[in-house]
Amino acid sequence: MNPQKNIYILAIESSCDDTSAAVLLNNKVLSNVVATQKIHEAYGGVVPELASRAHQQNIVPAVHQALAKANIDKKLVSAIAFTRGPGLLGSLLVGTSFAKSLSIGLEVPLIEVNHMQAHILSHFISDPEMKTPSFPFIALTISGGHTQIVLVRSYFDMEILGETLDDAVGEAYDKSAKILGLPYPGGPLVDKYAQLGNPKAFSFPKPKVKDFNFSFSGLKTSILYFVQRETKNNPEFVKENINDICASIQYTIVGILMDKLEKAVKKTAVNQVAIGGGVSANSAIRAALKERKKTLGWDTYIPKFEYCTDNAAMIGIVGYLKYLEGEFTDQGITAKARYKLTS
Ligand code: KG4
Ligand code: ZN
Repeated sequence: MNPQKNIYILAIESSCDDTSAAVLLNNKVLSNVVATQKIHEAYGGVVPELASRAHQQNIVPAVHQALAKANIDKKLVSAIAFTRGPGLLGSLLVGTSFAKSLSIGLEVPLIEVNHMQAHILSHFISDPEMKTPSFPFIALTISGGHTQIVLVRSYFDMEILGETLDDAVGEAYDKSAKILGLPYPGGPLVDKYAQLGNPKAFSFPKPKVKDFNFSFSGLKTSILYFVQRETKNNPEFVKENINDICASIQYTIVGILMDKLEKAVKKTAVNQVAIGGGVSANSAIRAALKERKKTLGWDTYIPKFEYCTDNAAMIGIVGYLKYLEGEFTDQGITAKARYKLTS
């Protein structure tokens, strides 16, 4: 990629419960500000109405901060990129409306971005701590809202090989954590306790789902029944066995993900594997990928943590790539809660 000039992209992400703004100079991130909404913790999950209100409060300061940290004047901005979807409609509306108005105010083009495409293309952010996959590669996108295996042939040629039929993998973590009495979001806590426990202490059934698709809702139910049964005999069961329970849940979830990923690699004969999404922070998933690198010769790509969780820098890199293609959008654009990766 050989850009002719300096392109500054101001990017905005507001699809769920993080308000984020970033500034990129070509494919480099100058700033990436994320305002995480703490308000949802008290409710044990994201409350859509509260999320959109918090976005309204956070968006102006987030954009100001992103520009200040990047140390550029807004007059230098070449284009505004924003998340059009998928996500919570009320949340998306805030970012979409703001991006549209700002593009009018600054008289710069507008670029709409698919959030799932952005998770995948975050690997193309130029960063000394990250390596970039070449095409084709397989992407596993795992977060609180998504679980997909995608064959990526080029920046904008992607094929979904499989996805979840019900809960996302992050939801499976968070719902399991809730059953164990852990606060939201419970994924990182399950991971923390799992590292201290025996992954084979308890066994949970793996769902039988065809092809490369996933299902996690049955796992949640079997964990619930298991905990109810055991606490009947011993009310202190969870407390006494938290490490082993978490390790066993983690072992099951990572096993489900890796089984499908291995199948996808085999079927496509593409052994470059890139992960993305908040659950990529998980220690067992990272270890399992490293293991496949050793035993199966995979090339594995894991973005920096700040580009795994929802962030505007990943929206910015897609904005930059679309800018190079001249792919702009007009003011008639609307937010899209269900927005497919491939049309
Ligand atoms: O990408 P993300 O920040 O937001 C969504 O788009 O959902 O992902 C958040 C999800 C939550 O479900 C959280 O519990 C999970 O990622 N998560 C983890 C870990 N860190 C975050 N799950 C398991 N292990 C972790 N270390
Ligand atoms: Zn996401």
